[in-house]
Amino acid sequence: MIDRDVKGTQPPLLYPGYKSTVRRAPSQPLIRLPDGFGDLAAPLFGYLPIGDTDNDLTRQHASEPQGERIIVSGRVIDEEGRAVSNTLVEIWQCNAAGRYLHVRDDHPAPLDPNFTGAGRTMTDAEGRYRFVTIKPGAYPWRNHPNAWRPAHIHFSLFGSSFQSRLVTQMYFPNDPLFPYDPIFHSIPDARARERLVSQFDLALTEPEWALGYRFDIVLRGRDSTPFEQRT
Ligand SMILES: [Fe+2]
Repeated sequence: MIDRDVKGTQPPLLYPGYKSTVRRAPSQPLIRLPDGFGDLAAPLFGYLPIGDTDNDLTRQHASEPQGERIIVSGRVIDEEGRAVSNTLVEIWQCNAAGRYLHVRDDHPAPLDPNFTGAGRTMTDAEGRYRFVTIKPGAYPWRNHPNAWRPAHIHFSLFGSSFQSRLVTQMYFPNDPLFPYDPIFHSIPDARARERLVSQFDLALTEPEWALGYRFDIVLRGRDSTPFEQRT
């Protein structure tokens, strides 16, 4: 559970500039879950074991996908800076052309037969995770005239129980689309928004191979990462 009291650091459920929140935000008072429900220890995640290529989205098909190979890595920590180890981190994203492998994505950009756009891994003892992937493209959406999403990677984290799942998005530094994106701006606090922007990291960058971006995730507290779903 994350701290909802740090004013302005989390997006409201209803943000009219982000049109679909108008339809999905609760219009009735919320119903309290029975006591103890949030303590259920299972299910944590799917029973399928994590495979060798689950954290490398460039090696899941016969050939490499098109686009700019990148490394995305960081730590999952709590408000005290302690590592959150052995937690499932999942990502999903569009391809380099800005197209999702999804039945509802009809953006006129090519699919890539060598890119699914989904990955998962577990954090290690230091709370660290690492993915190899392709830098996603910007894509249009129909929220408002000429609406384009800044390039982003969706993240999901599972805590100690199913109810503690958290969902957020990671962005890339200096994206020119930031000022126009209502999803980014649904987070009132500017410093909290910046926590969704990964940092280019030369130490993470591998020579002759891939640029590295660091994205640390803070689960709660004053420096909490903004999340889409809150419990
Ligand atoms: Fe997206």
